[in-house]
Amino acid sequence: MGVSYDTIRFIDGVAEILDQRALPGKIIYVKCRNAEDIFDAISKMKIRGAPAIGIAGAFGVYLGAAASKARDFKGFKREVKKISAYLASSRPTARNLFWALERMEKTSRALESGSKKDALAGLLAEAMKILEEDKAICREIGEAGNGLIKKGARILTHCNAGSLATGGYGTALGVIARAGNKIKMVYVDETRPVLQGARLTAWELSALGIPATLICDNAAASLMSRGKIDAVIVGADRIAANGDTANKIGTYSLAVSAKYHNIPFYIAAPVSTFDLSISGGEYIPIEERSADEVRKVMGKLITLKDMPVLNPAFDVTPRHLIGAIITEYGVIERPGTGKIKRMIEGK
Ligand code: MRU
Repeated sequence: MGVSYDTIRFIDGVAEILDQRALPGKIIYVKCRNAEDIFDAISKMKIRGAPAIGIAGAFGVYLGAAASKARDFKGFKREVKKISAYLASSRPTARNLFWALERMEKTSRALESGSKKDALAGLLAEAMKILEEDKAICREIGEAGNGLIKKGARILTHCNAGSLATGGYGTALGVIARAGNKIKMVYVDETRPVLQGARLTAWELSALGIPATLICDNAAASLMSRGKIDAVIVGADRIAANGDTANKIGTYSLAVSAKYHNIPFYIAAPVSTFDLSISGGEYIPIEERSADEVRKVMGKLITLKDMPVLNPAFDVTPRHLIGAIITEYGVIERPGTGKIKRMIEGK
């Protein structure tokens, strides 16, 4: 079954976002009426996860354009460009946000004539399309990855790459959901600092009826050494042309441990996560988030209130630690620049 709440929905001119900061305790939909509301929702992680923030960004462009006072198409397109640049500054790492904004800009550039009403209808249709396509893509990722999952598998996952992080169904959790009763156990990293694993992935797996066990992030290597993990599957925020992959902080150490213990390590992500303009992971911008995310747990101070903190939100896993990248186009084993280029451009 799975979680029966929409991550994001569009009703009567308003984008409604399920506030993930309140989960799993409370179901609260935040109403976003303009681009500023969407910016706030993305930057404060009311909505999070690479594909989901791309979808939110697309609706943000529409909402911003709907408020435009531009008198002609030229002015309208200029404003869409401005709104898009503004939304692009909400979070820096997930490629999907920029990909979705580029799609919205392209839609506006293609407008040549008609009324403002028609132009807005075109932008809204594109945002809805991005949302609906993402749901279908997640199903395809689930299908593509299913062959990698053996009966009785015990899987480790990190952060949340489920329906909450996408338009629905999820990427890494999409593979797990598709594998269904082949899965013996999913070990869920709690994922400090903001606990996407404990709060979101645990909730989603429970709704799916898939056996799940929550672990502290620092328990993963020990479980691997005790033979309790058969594979690691995580999502991605940006994948460079050579396959180096940025994902939630802590992913890299999982990949290193998995390699040491000879356990396959898989990335599941849509093609919109690839950034072919950068040759390697060293060029991926890594978001640095607020110190208080680390100083506090669920709003409660756990250290000195002015304790110096480092809080990179993502890390980069080099491609040679990645057994395969699972996409809607299929599985790329031992990813590298040539294979990735062929897969993406071959379509
Ligand atoms: O900071 P977050 O919660 O937005 O980070 C999310 C992740 O790192 C996910 O693993 C990634 O976006 C893939 S979601 C399908």
